[in-house]
Amino acid sequence: MAIIELNGISKVFRTKEIETTALENVNLQVEEGEFVSIMGPSGCGKSTLLNIIGLLDNPTTGTVSLLGHNSHGWSDSTLSHFRNDHIGFVFQSFHLIPSLNVAANVELPLTYRSGMSGSERRQRVEEVMERLEMTHRLKHLPAQLSGGQCQRVAIARAIVGKPSIVLADEPTGNLDDENASRLMELFIQMNKIFGTTIILATHSQKLLDTYKFPVIRVENHHVTFVGQKGPTAPEPKKVWKGPKPQNYFAELSKQFDDIENG
Ligand SMILES: Nc1ncnc2c1ncn2[C@@H]1O[C@H](COP(=O)(O)OP(=O)(O)OP(=O)(O)O)[C@@H](O)[C@H]1O
Ligand SMILES: [Mg+2]
Repeated sequence: MAIIELNGISKVFRTKEIETTALENVNLQVEEGEFVSIMGPSGCGKSTLLNIIGLLDNPTTGTVSLLGHNSHGWSDSTLSHFRNDHIGFVFQSFHLIPSLNVAANVELPLTYRSGMSGSERRQRVEEVMERLEMTHRLKHLPAQLSGGQCQRVAIARAIVGKPSIVLADEPTGNLDDENASRLMELFIQMNKIFGTTIILATHSQKLLDTYKFPVIRVENHHVTFVGQKGPTAPEPKKVWKGPKPQNYFAELSKQFDDIENG
């Protein structure tokens, strides 16, 4: 099943003086469990495309279907519930809430989940922050963090809810090489073990050369090329049925090690 389907998407930004076409007649399908990248020069529309897929921005024309549901005409409340339940979005410029400490920023999406106790929320936050090696910064405010640390908090907030779709806008842009490869490993594990669909916008040719993801190339407002899987690309993964386990991140590492060790 195509978990993401865009039909005839265009996006025109209008201000008083100027009209900017960001996307024109984009048609795109991403299957459940795929891991793809979006590449293209600065200003070509990568963030716009991710925002539209992530239901954060309305297209000027066209329709977006996610998990088989056409989002046309949804109310703001339906949109935000759907986003919160299914999508983890890593923003290019983080969008952390300056007045909340790191723990509260990461916990925020979980506060919209009905029936989740405070202790479970805090446990989830601990778990994800441990995985991203950020537990020593839980009490800090975003302004007290480095760019790379802010980026890891933004990533934690995007995945703490165990989303079935992760949309990551330049998620390694502020990370050093070691943290960037750790993040890629985490995304690959989520993709392989839980069949998480991942779309990653990046400028980094190095990332692409290393991981050989299929590429959605955005050029002149169009999606001009959807690449083939390379020889070392992550294989198509099993699709995860039912709720994800409580100890998501521990299970992720364990199951992945089991696969790697045969
Ligand atoms: N809110 C907005 N109002 C007006 N124009 C906008 C707005 N957001 C984006 N644009 C324009 O739309 C085009 C695409 O922008 P977008 O941010 O999607 O590019 P991008 O590919 O993500 O670039 P980068 O690689 O620099 O992040 C650009 O020309 C940009 O100036
Ligand atoms: Mg961008």
